[in-house]
Amino acid sequence: MRNEVRRPVIPPDSSSRSRIRRRLLAWYDGHKRDLPWRRRAGDAYAQMLAELMLQQTQVATVIGYYERFIARFPTVADLARADLDEVLALWSGLGYYSRARHLHAAARAIVEHHGGVVPSHVHQLMSLPGIGRYTAGAIASIAYGRRAAVLDGNVVRVLMRLLALEDDPKRPALREQLWSVAEQLLPRSRCGDFNQALMELGATVCRPGIPDCDECPLRADCRGHERGLVDRIPPPARRATVRSVEYVVAAIRHGGRMLFVQRPLTGLWAGLWELPSEPLAAGETAGDGLRRLRERLPPKCRIKDAEAGTATRQLTHRTVLFHVYEGRAASAALPATASYGVSTGPRTGKRSARTGPKSSGSASAGPPARWLRPDELSQIGLSRAGLAVLQLLRWSA
Ligand code: ADE
Repeated sequence: MRNEVRRPVIPPDSSSRSRIRRRLLAWYDGHKRDLPWRRRAGDAYAQMLAELMLQQTQVATVIGYYERFIARFPTVADLARADLDEVLALWSGLGYYSRARHLHAAARAIVEHHGGVVPSHVHQLMSLPGIGRYTAGAIASIAYGRRAAVLDGNVVRVLMRLLALEDDPKRPALREQLWSVAEQLLPRSRCGDFNQALMELGATVCRPGIPDCDECPLRADCRGHERGLVDRIPPPARRATVRSVEYVVAAIRHGGRMLFVQRPLTGLWAGLWELPSEPLAAGETAGDGLRRLRERLPPKCRIKDAEAGTATRQLTHRTVLFHVYEGRAASAALPATASYGVSTGPRTGKRSARTGPKSSGSASAGPPARWLRPDELSQIGLSRAGLAVLQLLRWSA
């Protein structure tokens, strides 16, 4: 343990709990933000979508994505019928793409096993792909009014300050105790509002760093405030080491199109599309990666020796540097050599009429690949990193 002090977790007593519920709900009624999913509080599908998008992502970033997504897929059944590529296209730039794949799989499971209705029990919700205890509690309480607690980063901070816990918020035993406190605090009714109020307080008043205690409806019951500890709780997190990774990327044009390949369905940027790329091993030069990339590209492709430029992207635990090379293909053949060291048997890669010219060679041996025009990019999922590379090339719709 670093500078945490492990003290027993003493939940608020009964009169404090009543005061907390009353004051927090009254504060929420007067201060809640007008967010699009709050206008559809009884729509469990809308709540599921919002909660998945809000994981590790700021509200301000989510709003536009949420609105576009729900306009295109207004119901669970619409989403279940959709092609995963289109789902990923709508998620492009939001990050953590496994959330989109899980949401799509969850929609299909809801249609198949729950008659198209999002289940209302926490244990049923938790059996769906991508739905953990927090998300299940949020959907069950907000959409169905169930007495289910939530514990996300904001709620952890609020509760730790409220109880003056100078402990490591990641410690599993403490997490379990905080779940129990969150459950004890739940009112008999308005559980969805109460949970959202806790999250809202954490996001707007009881913020990380120095909170705005003057504005806090729970100040009278806050042991952290009483003891002058709020700016020390929770203690600063250990910084994760950031690795650097480099890729060589080939921008191959043919007519007005560019060659895109789909990444494997697991790992970084799983299932998204990108320009053909090769990761560089430690000590390798861009020239080494370029040589490998040339070997696996379709026949009659020419890539210039001179680098067109570089693009960088900062991920949570990685700094990514792309060395971008431009080239041309004399034919519309697609890559015939499996890349990424994965089996590329039949996957989601569906080649339809809209995908443009097909390979004249054995395209089925390679990763799903497509020649796309800029206006066709809305059909595929692209990472922000991929968009940065296309921006460098000034190639967009
Ligand atoms: N963060 C996570 N869930 C949220 C919600 N329902 N409203 C606002 N912010 C959130």
